[in-house]
Amino acid sequence: MPTKNTSIHGEWSSRLAFILAAAGSAVGLGNIWKFPYMAGENGGGAFVLIYLACIAVFGLPIMMAEVMLGRRGRQSPINTMKTLSQQESAHKAWGLLGWSGVLAGVLILSYYSVIAGWSLSYVIESVSGSLKGISGTQAGELFESLIASPLTLIFWHTVFMVMTMIVVARGVIGGLEVAVRYLMPSLLILILVLIAYSVSQGHFMLGVEFMFTPDFSKINQDVLLSAMGQAFFSLSLGMGAIMIYGSYLSQQASIAKTSFAVALMDTSVAILAGLAIFPIVFANHLDTGQGAALIFNTLPLAFGQMPGGVIFGTLFFVLLVFAAWTSSISLIEPAVAWLVERRGLTRIKASIICGFVTWLVGLGTVFSFNIWETYTMFDKTVFDLLDYLTTNIMLPLGGLLIAVFVGWSMRESSVRDEMAMSNPVLYQAWRLLIRFVTPVGVLLIFLNVIGII
Ligand code: PHE
Repeated sequence: MPTKNTSIHGEWSSRLAFILAAAGSAVGLGNIWKFPYMAGENGGGAFVLIYLACIAVFGLPIMMAEVMLGRRGRQSPINTMKTLSQQESAHKAWGLLGWSGVLAGVLILSYYSVIAGWSLSYVIESVSGSLKGISGTQAGELFESLIASPLTLIFWHTVFMVMTMIVVARGVIGGLEVAVRYLMPSLLILILVLIAYSVSQGHFMLGVEFMFTPDFSKINQDVLLSAMGQAFFSLSLGMGAIMIYGSYLSQQASIAKTSFAVALMDTSVAILAGLAIFPIVFANHLDTGQGAALIFNTLPLAFGQMPGGVIFGTLFFVLLVFAAWTSSISLIEPAVAWLVERRGLTRIKASIICGFVTWLVGLGTVFSFNIWETYTMFDKTVFDLLDYLTTNIMLPLGGLLIAVFVGWSMRESSVRDEMAMSNPVLYQAWRLLIRFVTPVGVLLIFLNVIGII
């Protein structure tokens, strides 16, 4: 029987601290920026329905598995996977899972930071009053002029990366808890303000209809894959972020309950964000399928018209930046923790190295909106490619492998011991999902996309 591992990086002060940190990781641009535009591009209701199914059938079981692996291994995902594969007498190659997670984290953060930079620049637009009374065309022009300027984008991308690395360098355990405790409720309140605005303008039901009336003829392989990818992305699964937060979780906390709380919060924020945005889209006759620009072309209209819009708009974009911030920290934490463990670097040095590499890769995304706009591969710009590769392939593949490792390679006794679920029926249900339903489901979607089935 292997002895319990311990973490050299410390532990959360309480179960609530973990929930807050994991929710901080999960709730971010993925919920407020990406979910609405993905839903808009992929036919609304049908996408939302598949997304919700993916959260329940893939997301929640894998989140539990990932937290469990982290807590059992108590190190960075790379070393956790190495240690556990030894302790469980599984193949050494499982260590690669940690590596692919670190790579996915760096790649995601490279573009995530650029988008967070857009949000930063909208804080300034909002506070300076330039969104007041803005028209649809003007909002479009404002956004276009932002992304057309590589220097402006680099500036904000740099600011955001520096913000992220400062927190990571100081250690994520202390700061996050305080930030998220106030951030989440405030963000939720502002989303509710937007919804209230739509209700008062009489357009709310248009959004509800769009999001909850599934048109099944819209479902195809791409919609399936995108909805699955979005579920992994939104819950921060498949790349070690949740695993490393799990590694700081105390032995007494219930993995099932905490995971459920995090998944519920994350999903609620995404749905509410959709309900806040689509009514504005329809009220202003905008296009639902306009992609990454969606919230930046719609929200300024609402803030520009509502009373107190300068204050609400500024607060909203500040909170969006905060939400992105608490996610970006978790994207890079696996890489930094590994450098500290492996190379014995200080957190500061490790953060500078990881931050610089990520910043550099991020320039590819910056340029994909302007000077490299016409350079495409498979019809995709650098940003689109990075997003597709990470969200639709690397994260679900990581999740699939986590399910296989936990379901098939680990000893049942270890899994049962670490999960410590008091309800045997729930445990069996989870085990059934993680062994069969989840891996087979993800695999089927992959095979479907490749065209094998
Ligand atoms: N879940 C985060 C969001 O929704 C993004 C993220 C993905 C964070 C993967 C960590 C790992 O914005």
